[in-house]
Formats: sequence, structure tokens, C-alpha cells
Amino acid sequence: MTTAITKVVFPVAGLGTRFLPATKAIPKEMLPVADQPLIQYAVQEAQQAGITEFIFVTNPTNRAILESHFGANDALESMLLERGKTAELKIVAETTLPEGQVKFCYQDEPLGLGHAVWCAREFVSDGSFAVVLPDDLIMAKTGCLKQMVDVYARFGGNVVAVEEVPRDLTSRYGILDVDQDDGEIVSAKGLVEKPAPEDAPSTLSIIGRYILDGRVFGHLDKKVTGAGGEIQLTDAISATIGEVPFHGLRFDGTRFDCGSMNGFVEANVAFGLERSHHESDLRSYLKSHL
Ligand code: UTP
Repeated sequence: MTTAITKVVFPVAGLGTRFLPATKAIPKEMLPVADQPLIQYAVQEAQQAGITEFIFVTNPTNRAILESHFGANDALESMLLERGKTAELKIVAETTLPEGQVKFCYQDEPLGLGHAVWCAREFVSDGSFAVVLPDDLIMAKTGCLKQMVDVYARFGGNVVAVEEVPRDLTSRYGILDVDQDDGEIVSAKGLVEKPAPEDAPSTLSIIGRYILDGRVFGHLDKKVTGAGGEIQLTDAISATIGEVPFHGLRFDGTRFDCGSMNGFVEANVAFGLERSHHESDLRSYLKSHL
């Protein structure tokens, strides 16, 4: 028996050093891809998966920015109404989340992704929950998290989204030690965080989407540091293998690593083409530019 996944944790307390100076005053997840900030794509993906509680792990400064983005803005709405800008009014209204659905907690120091998730424990430790890293932006017909919720409904336990990476890049990712693989769903006997290419048990990497059983907190509580001296989420998930089922899903869609410059620009091109009202002009510009 599995229960519905209704809560998502957004760990957004990282420093975003690869995007300085853009991230000096605003958090990385507020960087826009085409016309929307990264965090809004993440919220929409979660909503599509049936999530109704959004938990942001952040700091007080970034909380204020996120609160004003997802809160109501009556002054702006009445101005848009006065000016007859109904399409824009609809966009603004759609970004507003009901107050009771939004929760914040703080990570005082960026001690790692595992630590960031641990900081949200009081909101989620009573059951299974999702974790979404907004800087992994996914373009998909059916949202990646919805695809994962469907796998969770079959197997329960922990479910992560996975994709193949070139072997020389394994040291950037959490890598699966594969047990069984039907081409779409994989079970693993272990996980290794950031292995050197020669030590990587496979080239199947975890990307920023997780459905986790609350038992992961039993391991995060120990605050064991791993790769890079950080408290790694992957290590805690790995420790639950045997306690709860573990599956990786090769999701249907394209992932953009918006934590890196190239991934971010690629996402802007792909989402720009998809979302622009003048798509053919943009396409012609790109063609002529290249
Ligand atoms: P990254 O590894 O991309 O780190 O974190 P970062 O700090 O955001 O960026 P760089 O490497 O300095 O450029 C992946 C996700 O995990 C969150 C980040 O906010 C991002 O969403 N994170 C990471 C935390 O919330 N806390 C941490 O301690 C580490």
C-alpha cells in the first residue's frame, strides 16, 4: 500500500557560485528561463504530479523573494485589470499559491543536499515526499515527477529519476550500482556519490528528482559527511536499500542542467522556442546566427 505524494521539498539554499554575479542578490532558482523563473517550472511540475504542499529550504533573504513571487500582488493585479491586460492578469494569478500550501524552513549553512532535505524533516518525516531540484529543468509531455509518482504507486519505497551520462562525467553525479534493468525501470544494489570514472559501477546517474520514504531521515540524522565533505542525500538513500524498495526511472523527457552556464543557455533556447509567441522569428535568428 502506498500513500499519495502530496508534499514536495525544494532545497534552494545553495550558494549558486557558478552563476555569480547573477546570484549575488537573487537566488539561482529565480533566474528566468524564457519567461518564467526556474522555481516556477518546478512548482508546475509538482502540481501536475498532484502535489499540494510546497516546502522551500532556503534562507531569510531568499524567502522574502520567493514569498513575493508566489504570494498575491493585489496592487499589480488591479493595475493590470484597470489597463485591460487580462492575459497578463491570468499569468500573475496563476503564480499565486494558496497561503496554507507554502512552507519555509532554513538551512543556516550549505552543508550539502542531504542536510538541506534534513532541514525540512518536521514537515515531511511522517510519510513519503518528493524532492525537486529546480536547477534540473525537464522538458517533457508528462511531467517527470508525475511519471515517478506512477512508478511509486507500483513499487512504493524510494524512486529517483535517472539518465545515462558519459563515463568521464560520473564524478559529477550520484551513480547507480545496477541490480536489475528492464530498459525503463532499474533497481540498484547500491549508490555511489561522485565516483571517479574508473570506480563508477555504471553510467546511470541520479538527476534532481526524488520520491523518498520518511525512513531516509533515520540516516540523515547521523549527519555523516561524504563526497566533498558534504552531507549527501545519495548516501542516505543508499543506506535505505534493503529497508525499502529502491527504483530508478529512465524518464521520458529532456533534462537541462541549469546549474551550469551551457545547460542554462540550452534551456533558454529550447524553452524559448517552445514558449515564444514569435517562435519562427526566433528560429530564423538562431539559424542565421549559427
Ligand atoms: P548545487 O550542487 O548546484 O550547488 O546544488 P549550488 O550551491 O546551488 O551551486 P554552485 O555549485 O555553487 O554553483 C544543487 C541543489 O541543491 C541545493 C541548491 O540550492 C540546488 O538547488 N543545495 C545544495 C542546498 O539547498 N543546500 C546545500 O547545502 C547544497
